[in-house]
Amino acid sequence: MLRHKMRNILFLASCLLCISLCAQRPNSPQVNAHGGCIIAHDGQWLWYGEARPERGFTSLGVNLYTAPIDSLPADEANPLLHPWQLRGLVLSVVDDEGSPIQRGCIIERPKVLWNAATKQFVMIFHLELKGRGYEAAMTGFATSTTPEGPFTFHHAQRPNADIWPADFSEADIRKAQALNEADYKKSWTPEWRVAVADGLLLKRDLARGQMSRDMTVFVDDDGTAWHIYSSEENLTLQAAELTPDYLGYTGRYYRIAAGGQNEAPCIFKRNGTYWLICSGCTGWEPNEARMFSAPAIAGPWTQHPSPMRGPHASRTFGGQGTWIWNVPSAAGDQPLAPHLFFMADIWFPRSLAHSRHLCLPIRFTAEGTPIIRQDKNNGQ
Ligand code: GAL
Repeated sequence: MLRHKMRNILFLASCLLCISLCAQRPNSPQVNAHGGCIIAHDGQWLWYGEARPERGFTSLGVNLYTAPIDSLPADEANPLLHPWQLRGLVLSVVDDEGSPIQRGCIIERPKVLWNAATKQFVMIFHLELKGRGYEAAMTGFATSTTPEGPFTFHHAQRPNADIWPADFSEADIRKAQALNEADYKKSWTPEWRVAVADGLLLKRDLARGQMSRDMTVFVDDDGTAWHIYSSEENLTLQAAELTPDYLGYTGRYYRIAAGGQNEAPCIFKRNGTYWLICSGCTGWEPNEARMFSAPAIAGPWTQHPSPMRGPHASRTFGGQGTWIWNVPSAAGDQPLAPHLFFMADIWFPRSLAHSRHLCLPIRFTAEGTPIIRQDKNNGQ
């Protein structure tokens, strides 16, 4: 009798689990390209993003989807509704024992830049080594001469070992050098937070190189390329200048919002102002976006209220930013006015492959401050 009851309970529980999994299963078409970016090349949109498995948290590599640029919908409602075509894995994890991208590693937030000088597409991504959770906190680099790849893995590193931030004075360095984790019995106290902002973790990681997790890239009008990433245990963002071939660091880097705990950086420049939209640190769970502006990458950075408005704005409409997509307006003649879209991932950790996408137009107040609302049909 008892066994029969147990069997019924188990049956009921598994039915409920199935229903809840199916209920969250999104509609097709499904784009398995997460934490990604969309760039224009040769009449095509190239959408690169994390290729995730149905189950589990490791990586398959990086997928590419393409769409003809002239297939842009007639309004700016949702450019994600292009007819995206899967071109397959352009970077794959490998089975070679000891390779940094060995199957079982985690590849996140891949971004691709075209380097006109070397005539290469350069892919830069957050890499975690197999079996080490999120401890490695490295940046991976891969290259290809064609957008469809396959990309060749180049190397992985932590940025800027043995180098202090470009704007650290002698006094700042002395202060940071005096900080030791062992002197703080507890983390997250007010004193610990001050020490983090002063460089406690920056100094800890000086010899090994700075941690680099959630990330984006940005090429400025003068051609300088920047890698912007969550560093110092995700407590401080850093912006590090890339070498002209985009395959390493020049050694010039700045900290942004030290101790502010920002992730998922997305950046754009408008009328000479740099705007940075980030998330807080709650893993796959959505949280309220943060926004900063500066007259230069070097700062000073000023924090603003979240740009999100309307229902569910306080949870970034369920998403976490990944890229600012610059889309020419379909309406009107040449020159096409650029439209900026905030792209975000709606993470579905039970099946990361099925995570969804948001694409929201960025509008501006009369003073030029970005505003983002969720209109209907902005999902994919
Ligand atoms: C998020 C991050 C994702 C992924 C995830 C892992 O905060 O933005 O890219 O790293 O955590 O829990």
